Amino acid sequence: MRSLLFSSVLLAACTGAIQVTPPPAEIPAMGVVMNAPVDRPRPHRTTPGEWSSPSALWLQDGEVTVLDGALVRQRSGDDFSTLEVAIEPGVVKALSRRGAGVMVAATGGFFHDAPGRLLRAPVSDDFAMSSLRFVDVVGAALWVTTSTDATRVLDGHRETVRINDASETGAVQAIIGRSSTAALLVKGASLYAVDLEARTVKTLARGVGTVTAIDHRGDVALIGTSEGLLEVATDGSVSRHTLSATDVGQAIVDIEVVGELTLVTTTSQVLQLGAVIVVLADVTQAWPDALTKDVNGDVWFLDGASLVRLSTSVVVPPPSFAADVKPFMTAHCRSCHATGANYAPQLNLENYAVARNWAVQSLNRITDTVAPMPPANREVLTPAQYDVVVRWVEGGLLP
Ligand code: HEC
Repeated sequence: MRSLLFSSVLLAACTGAIQVTPPPAEIPAMGVVMNAPVDRPRPHRTTPGEWSSPSALWLQDGEVTVLDGALVRQRSGDDFSTLEVAIEPGVVKALSRRGAGVMVAATGGFFHDAPGRLLRAPVSDDFAMSSLRFVDVVGAALWVTTSTDATRVLDGHRETVRINDASETGAVQAIIGRSSTAALLVKGASLYAVDLEARTVKTLARGVGTVTAIDHRGDVALIGTSEGLLEVATDGSVSRHTLSATDVGQAIVDIEVVGELTLVTTTSQVLQLGAVIVVLADVTQAWPDALTKDVNGDVWFLDGASLVRLSTSVVVPPPSFAADVKPFMTAHCRSCHATGANYAPQLNLENYAVARNWAVQSLNRITDTVAPMPPANREVLTPAQYDVVVRWVEGGLLP
């Protein structure tokens, strides 16, 4: 199945172009979510191995794989061994998950993983690999962004996707697949949803910033930009997560989705996005395509020439309501919510069932920077003080 896409491309390299013009429309304002990461004790950080010039890293066969100079090295236990690669991958331009595997787009071509090896795909010859910016494998389609074009390769057809929008003269930034026939396209500062089968296009947003990384979390498309993280839902609604407490978004360098979690490298930090955003590490020289989480749950990334391993798999037992969270509610929430004093809605947050039902709203309000709980004129809690609630929600709301 895996090689099918590439062999059919090899047989029929026909090229076409799809031009679509968006109808004039009211473009809804992008939702902005100002969610600052919570700061908590950082995971233990080590820098394993000696590296000459590491430049990309991904997970292959469940193991951390590093491109180090011209060599591809894969972790085996405590060591790294060299993988068999017939043609030098060269400089990595983009990575894409491909089912359980990976697609590496480098100056040497497109490579896909095979046990203990990296195989070069024939479709490589159809592209000027040095101009490649992003690659996205979705279903049977390969969506490729170069410095000039957005292209889909499907069933042996290579088609360039062009949008004629009089109010957007900027260059193509990225194409992100949604299925084999639909995609999101960023051109200039505008974001469009394109349907290649129906030949329709819809303008979803303006002012999206410079695209630096793309990924998917289930059906949600993630676009890392100079302004933060854009999430595009299936209905086309767009929200921008600033990853900071202000409207000024943190610039994103890399995105890696692992199950329900999203790992993000910004220019200064490695973050884990889930029920809350947690700072995992500081980074001095952040790299694109250099962030992953291994099967044990440890996070790996490149900081300049250092391969960093974060011992995120070390299990800290999640807090329980009775021992940890109830005392917090008693100390910080009871005075108003137990009786409804100060116009507060009456909520018995010291009762497990009530607290559990209100857990997500409570956490949202505790971490809210505009209208926090407790109200700011009463008491300002530090992230360290409310971390117990964060970990309780993350840990599954134990009684
Ligand atoms: C000084 C009084 C006061 C304290 C202390 C306080 N709250 Fe509140 N809370 C209010 C008031 C007043 C409202 C309603 C107005 C609003 O939503 O801002 C409210 C609203 C809420 C809501 C929204 C309820 C709804 O119907 O949507 C939640 C959730 C909440 N508080 C949780 C908490 C938690 C958790 C704590 C402790 C960490 C806390 N509050 C501490 C006064 C307080």
